[in-house]
Amino acid sequence: MTSPRINHQVRLAKRPEGKATREHWHFTTEPVAEPEEGGVLVQVLSLSLDPAMRGWLNDARSYIPPVAIDEVMRAGGVGRVIASKNPAFTVGDTVYGTLGVQEYILIAQDQVKRNGLVKIDLGVGTIGQWLNVLGMPGMTGYFGLMDVGQPQPGETVVVSGAAGAVGQTVGQLAKLKGCRVVGIAGGAAKCEWVVKELGFDACIDYKAGEGAVRAGLKEHCPKGVDIYFDNVGGEILDHVLAKLARKARIIICGAISQYNNANSVPAAGPRNYLSLLVNRARMEGIVVFDYADRYPVAIAELAGYLKDGRMKSKEDTVVGLDTFPEALNRLFSGENFGKLVLQIENQSAHF
Ligand SMILES: NC(=O)c1ccc[n+]([C@@H]2O[C@H](COP(=O)([O-])OP(=O)(O)OC[C@H]3O[C@@H](n4cnc5c(N)ncnc54)[C@H](OP(=O)(O)O)[C@@H]3O)[C@@H](O)[C@H]2O)c1
Repeated sequence: MTSPRINHQVRLAKRPEGKATREHWHFTTEPVAEPEEGGVLVQVLSLSLDPAMRGWLNDARSYIPPVAIDEVMRAGGVGRVIASKNPAFTVGDTVYGTLGVQEYILIAQDQVKRNGLVKIDLGVGTIGQWLNVLGMPGMTGYFGLMDVGQPQPGETVVVSGAAGAVGQTVGQLAKLKGCRVVGIAGGAAKCEWVVKELGFDACIDYKAGEGAVRAGLKEHCPKGVDIYFDNVGGEILDHVLAKLARKARIIICGAISQYNNANSVPAAGPRNYLSLLVNRARMEGIVVFDYADRYPVAIAELAGYLKDGRMKSKEDTVVGLDTFPEALNRLFSGENFGKLVLQIENQSAHF
C-alpha cells in the first residue's frame, strides 16, 4: 500500500503592519484527498508572486476580498492534473488557476470556475511565459496600454517598473505599436537590459540620485509624455505629471511604492494633479480581471510576438515553497529581475 500524498501549505498567521515577514505565515501539512465526482486534483508546479499579494493581506475593502487568517495564501499558478473526475480535465493536463501557496489543490466541481482553472498549452509558451507575458501581468500590460492608453504611432510612452513583469510587456508592446518608449527602473543593470535587450529608446534609473527622474524625463521626453503607465505611484507619478503632453493618458495600474505603508498610512496622493486640467489629460485605473473574456485575443497576439522573436519574456525563478516569505519581499526591494516565479518542489524534508 502506498502512503498518502502530503500537502505542504503556507497560510496567513497574522496581518502585517508594513512589510510581511516570516512571523506572519505558518506552514501546515495535511493529507491529499482524491477528487469526488466533478472534482480535479492538481499538483502545483510554479506560482506567480505578485505585488498585489501584499494588498490581499490587509483587512480592507478592495477589488477582491482579503485572505482570511489561517487561509492558504492566495496565488495564481500553473499545475498539472494528477487525478480528475471532471470530463473537462484529463490526467496530465497543464492548467492555470488560483492554486494557492501549496503543493496540491483539490478543486471541487463547483469551485473549478471560481478558481479560474483553464488548460494551457505548453506548445504556445513555457510555464514561465504563461505566468508572465501570456499570463496575468501580460494581460494587465496589454489591456492597460491598448484599451486605456490607446497608443498612437509616434507618441511618447513612459512606463515605470520597466524591467518587471507588467513593465516589460507594456514597453515592448508600445514599441511594436510605433511609440517612443522610455522606461523607469531601479539600477543601471535593469536600465541597460530594457534598452539593449527589449529595445526601449531610453531608461531612467530612479535610484541614480536626487533629481534623476526629473532630469531624465526632460532629456528623453522633449515633447512631453503622451502615455504614462504607472506601476509604482508615489513621487515618480508626480514627476511624470509635471511632464504631460496635451491629452495625455495615465494608466493607474499599481503603486508598489506605497504597498508596505503601515495600515493607517494611506497611499501618498499625487500633488501635481492640476497638470491633468492644464493638459486636458486623464488618469484611469485598471483591474485586469475585468478583461478576462478578452484574454484569448491578447494571448494570441502576444504569443505571436514571442514566437517570431519580436517580444521577450524574462522570468526570475526562486525554488521551494519554504522560501515564500522572503521570496515575496524581493518584489518590494527590487531584487527580482523580471517576472517573479516561485517554483514549487515536492520536498517534504523542508518542514
Ligand atoms: N491593476 C491590475 O490589475 C494589476 C495587475 C498586475 C499588476 N499590477 C500592478 O503592477 C505593478 C507591477 O507589478 P509586477 O507584477 O509587474 O511587478 P514587478 O514590476 O515584476 O516587480 C515589482 C518591481 O517594482 C519595483 N519597485 C519596488 N518598490 C519600488 C518603489 N518604492 N519605487 C519604485 N519602484 C519600486 C521594483 O523594480 P525596480 O528595481 O525597478 O525598483 C520591483 O522589481 C504593481 O504595482 C502591481 O500591483 C496591477
